[in-house]
Amino acid sequence: MIDIHTHIIPGIDDGAQDMEETVQMAQAAVEEGIHTLIATPHHANGKYDNPWTQVEHAVHEVNEVLRGRGIPLTVVPGQEIRVYNNLLEDLHSHMAGTLHSSKYILIEFPTREIPKKTEALFHELRVMGLVPVIAHPERNMELASDPSKLQHLIQQGALAQITSHSINGLFGKKIQKLSFELCEHRMVHFVASDAHNIENRAFGLRQAYSMLAQKFGDDLVHGYKENAVKLISHEDINVSQPAWKTKTWWKFWG
Ligand SMILES: [Fe+2]
Repeated sequence: MIDIHTHIIPGIDDGAQDMEETVQMAQAAVEEGIHTLIATPHHANGKYDNPWTQVEHAVHEVNEVLRGRGIPLTVVPGQEIRVYNNLLEDLHSHMAGTLHSSKYILIEFPTREIPKKTEALFHELRVMGLVPVIAHPERNMELASDPSKLQHLIQQGALAQITSHSINGLFGKKIQKLSFELCEHRMVHFVASDAHNIENRAFGLRQAYSMLAQKFGDDLVHGYKENAVKLISHEDINVSQPAWKTKTWWKFWG
């Protein structure tokens, strides 16, 4: 399996704190059947700034250690980027980068709302030939309370990555139910762990895939896995039309 969203690089954000923890996370990933993962440290979220060249350097170091310890896991660079004012300039000056230098860029919203400038930013990204991937939309309050807003962003060309633990129920029943609904209505393009450690935010990717397969069948899961492979191989992923349920009058009055 491939995991496109993780915090495995040591000591640069709220993920792994040192190289030993990184190694433990890598072992846990391999035990789940993950062979490649994208390191996506937070960037420009108000607390952590992790410029692209530093991420690349750190990823190289992690891979050296993993090779030395005989752990069969490949780490490639990425960033989880908050919507911020200088993002476009920083992409041009290589302060910010995409997932494994593909055209897909992992974008994080604040917990509460969708930033006002999101649509304009996504438009500019598309002009640059990039495709925004919205990290865990199910955990954003504004999107969770009105998923038609996510559908709108997807119709404008954005993609969505749901977190394995949302499906597994770690964030509660409400987020779990919403996660299933988003999957069911073709509003999800990737499932990833957003792993931060091995204690309370590990991978859970195999469990999430097996729950989704049980609920919706193997084809859906196969599609998510294939999208991750395509992203890593710099190929276009499959995107089907989202179909969020609109409120019908009898439901509205019911
Ligand atoms: Fe994350």
